[in-house]
Amino acid sequence: MLAVVLVVLVAGHVVRAIGQQRCVSFVSSPSAFTVVSKGVAAPVFTSTDDWPGVHRAVGDFVSDIKKVTGTTPKLSNATISSLKTSTAPIIIGTLGKSSLVSQIVNNSKIDVSAISGRWETFQSFLVTNPLPGVPSAYLIIGSDKRGTIYGLYDHSEQFGVSPWYWWADVPITKNANMFVTSSGCLQGPPSVQYRGIFLNDEQPSLQNWAMEKFTNGTGSTLLGSPFNHLFYSKLFELLLRLKANYLWPAMWGSAFGIDDSLNQPLADFYGVVMGTSHQEPMMRSTPNEWNLFGSGDWNYSTNAQNIYKFWVNGTERSRPFESLYTLGMRGSGDLPLSETTNVNLLEQIVADQRTILMNAYNGTDVTTIPQLWALCKYKEVQGYYEDGMRVPDDVALIWTDDNWGNIRRFPLADERNRTGGAGVYYHVGSPRDYKWITSSQISKTYEQMSIAVERNATRVWILNVGDLKPYELGTEFFLAYGWNTTRWNHNNLDTFVSQWATREFDLSDGDSNTVAQIISNLTRWNARRKPELLNGTTYSLIDYREADTVLNDWKTLSDSSTAIYNKLSSEMKPSFFEMVHHPVQASQNLASMWISQGMNNMRASQARLSANTLADQVETMFATDYDLENQYHTLLDGKWDHMMDQTHVMYYYWQQPMTNTMPPISRVQAKKQALSGPMRVVPEGTLGAWPGDNPNQCSQGYSCPPPTLNLDYFAPIPNRYVDVGAGGPNAFTFTVTSSASWLKLTPASGSISPTAPEQRVFASVDWSQVNGAQSAVISFKATAKGQPSQTTTVNFNANKTVPATGFTGFVEGDGGIAIEAAHASRNTSVSGVTWTELPGYGRTLSGVTPWPRMGNNGANFTAGSGPSLEYDFYNFHPVQGMTVMVSPSLNANGNDRPLGFAVQLDTQTPRSFYFIPPAAASATPAGWDGVDGFVANSIVSVAVSGTAAPGAHTLKIWMVEPAVVVQKIVINTGNVRHSYLGPPESMRV
Ligand SMILES: *[C@@H]1O[C@H](CO)[C@@H](O)[C@H](O)[C@H]1NC(C)=O
Ligand SMILES: *[C@@H]1O[C@H](CO)[C@@H](O)[C@H](O)[C@H]1NC(C)=O
Repeated sequence: MLAVVLVVLVAGHVVRAIGQQRCVSFVSSPSAFTVVSKGVAAPVFTSTDDWPGVHRAVGDFVSDIKKVTGTTPKLSNATISSLKTSTAPIIIGTLGKSSLVSQIVNNSKIDVSAISGRWETFQSFLVTNPLPGVPSAYLIIGSDKRGTIYGLYDHSEQFGVSPWYWWADVPITKNANMFVTSSGCLQGPPSVQYRGIFLNDEQPSLQNWAMEKFTNGTGSTLLGSPFNHLFYSKLFELLLRLKANYLWPAMWGSAFGIDDSLNQPLADFYGVVMGTSHQEPMMRSTPNEWNLFGSGDWNYSTNAQNIYKFWVNGTERSRPFESLYTLGMRGSGDLPLSETTNVNLLEQIVADQRTILMNAYNGTDVTTIPQLWALCKYKEVQGYYEDGMRVPDDVALIWTDDNWGNIRRFPLADERNRTGGAGVYYHVGSPRDYKWITSSQISKTYEQMSIAVERNATRVWILNVGDLKPYELGTEFFLAYGWNTTRWNHNNLDTFVSQWATREFDLSDGDSNTVAQIISNLTRWNARRKPELLNGTTYSLIDYREADTVLNDWKTLSDSSTAIYNKLSSEMKPSFFEMVHHPVQASQNLASMWISQGMNNMRASQARLSANTLADQVETMFATDYDLENQYHTLLDGKWDHMMDQTHVMYYYWQQPMTNTMPPISRVQAKKQALSGPMRVVPEGTLGAWPGDNPNQCSQGYSCPPPTLNLDYFAPIPNRYVDVGAGGPNAFTFTVTSSASWLKLTPASGSISPTAPEQRVFASVDWSQVNGAQSAVISFKATAKGQPSQTTTVNFNANKTVPATGFTGFVEGDGGIAIEAAHASRNTSVSGVTWTELPGYGRTLSGVTPWPRMGNNGANFTAGSGPSLEYDFYNFHPVQGMTVMVSPSLNANGNDRPLGFAVQLDTQTPRSFYFIPPAAASATPAGWDGVDGFVANSIVSVAVSGTAAPGAHTLKIWMVEPAVVVQKIVINTGNVRHSYLGPPESMRV
């Protein structure tokens, strides 16, 4: 593959390409070949004997040129005489198939060695004297059927027809004139041989939509499935435009082979290789087809004969078409086979399946028929493998993730040279309980799939895309990365997104970069806790201003998306709405609704009238959630009706709720004053409220002392606040006074009423007046008509701490030290392996991981001998322990090489931590699952014991094993409080 990118950027004529070599321009140059100029298009010639699928794609190519330029090229099967009389033509054909291409190769001796004999490779270039009497032509030739088709669609994309022009309504930018460079383009062979998607969990959204758009409301005769050839022709075209070649069809209530007899031949005609999911062997939808046509139990130990016949049928049915067969067997309902099943039986099943293949293919060498065996998350299959079951060497072994993008295992050294190779079944969209909206970071997909590349799992990549529609970008990234794994790396993922934004929305470079940032934050915030797992207290309502920060960040993101949306033409808006603006707004609304709900519940318990305002907000946002869904559904006269049907508010267990439910809100009695008076005083950092009784004020909850606020000189947040709120319907004015001149209070007075029920008062310190620890008292005095005045006090401690002169590094503040892992003081490489930042990855800033992962020959290091990161810090209170926050990855290098790293404090002996408990192949590790598990939290918090006296220290993180990603380090010096993301990063001097 050529890594060279020819930049042909001309003002106002952006070539639309995401990283690939460019061969299209919109301005003439002496060497350029004219596709269309001044209303005249180069004629397009094909050969009658080329693949039908190539002829079909050439039709798209010609119509794409028309859509861009307004001029339709003349398309015909070539004869020598027609070529001779033609103006310089575009000639399209498949090497070894098109007799026209053969004649040109023989006549002009062009060099086709770059594509000859290769898989899915194409080349285009200008040829002089391709044939006698033909002075020149632009050739687009493929090494095979899909090579040619990809060559055509690659040109279309660069002309300005997005692969998503139909599926995401990307407008086609008009250009009257269009040229191609004489040197053309060369792409392929792809890094991954089979690159595909799996439509899964397709009910409610995709299925309801397809039922409305492609059927008359009834679906197929036998199953009522809407997934007929009308649907699939749209999908196949998209797949080919994305340079994908493989599909696992929808299977919940569908059966590709019987829902529409045109489905299978159509796939082959287009050039898409069909397969079936991990649980559906031998090209038959299971259990749907078995339920219709099978007899007896789905149990190979008791009913082998019938099941065998069932599979014979599936095999013979797909034999005429290009297929990649799934072998093996699972129990009915996608459950494990019965307990009596053993390795021998499964090996027998695979042997029988290969006999079926051999017979169906008339004795063809079975090792030449593409087959795979999925070692699924459906753990028992991987368990059989670990127990010693083996499948023949030519069968591709497909490893899988845990549904959440964490690959369970990669091929070990002795598994990397199988003739059948290995692959990965990966999820971006749909698993079970997060089907609603985009919530996968491409940085995470890259991190995991790049390990697959390094460990040779590149024969088959299949992506579970759920309903497809809300995951356009994530799907395209996965397929683009599989197409060319050398093009994308951790440092240019934002470029992928900004080029995508340019291609789709015609944006300026500045706005495209903004979109890259929007997508990066949108997916980061949805990935660190899936929207479906949020609740009102996910983010701390009281500490580190976590919930407030999350609210503000979402608001800023949404405003930034709105600013771009408002600039777009009405033609461009729907596409941007579908792929950027809707997910941003819907995610922001949902996240904000949950935080408002948490604050509502808290304020109600604090007897604050403003709880009612928040209750109103929750109701409004719950309504907005539906409005946004409806806006999506009514877009473009209802083109995407139902596509946002997925429920997503209030889960009662892992499975989707049957409807969206507004989370419970509370209301305080607005007509009645709180027992303790008109004014409520609530300092930052407590669930309590003063005056009066509240379980969170002190241990007994009543007759509690005044609250206390602490502020350190090195606190990452440089002030504190106290909320003054209405305790009912009675308006009051208040003043705030401080007992010390160094303590500034803003504002110093205010008015509270039912229409303005809250005032936040900030307390900050003039540190020039403070030495060491000093205390003050803040008095809040309320005056309400006809009531005695009410005074409530808050104690305030300021602590001016100073690290030793000359110290550089992170300094304790607010009870601890928090450090983003990328912010090391020193970074030391060993054997060419270096801790390397993965920008944009993870929950807060980025991750760091030893790089390259196969450095040091893939071997591990003993604690204290490998690459290291060092963090200098200064503490004023004794260290009480540390937390190293690492990404939840699985022990994918085998249980004898579990993920691990080592920690060293100063000169103490380094200690190793293996943070993912070893687990049988048939289980997930302890701590992995559950709403508070590693995966749901999107982090593993590794507790590291250790003490250190006040002073300057160094914490060292040593590499032990590869593929460990460290995100953040928190050192507790006595007051690290609970929060979702950990304290904000400490101050650095
Ligand atoms: C070229 O020939 C093929 C095969 O007969 C046919 O399917 C296709 O429609 C022809 N193309 C044109 C433009 O006539
Ligand atoms: C829907 O009904 C119309 C009118 O009967 C018919 O022409 C069309 O083919 C039907 N479409 C499908 C997908 O069944």
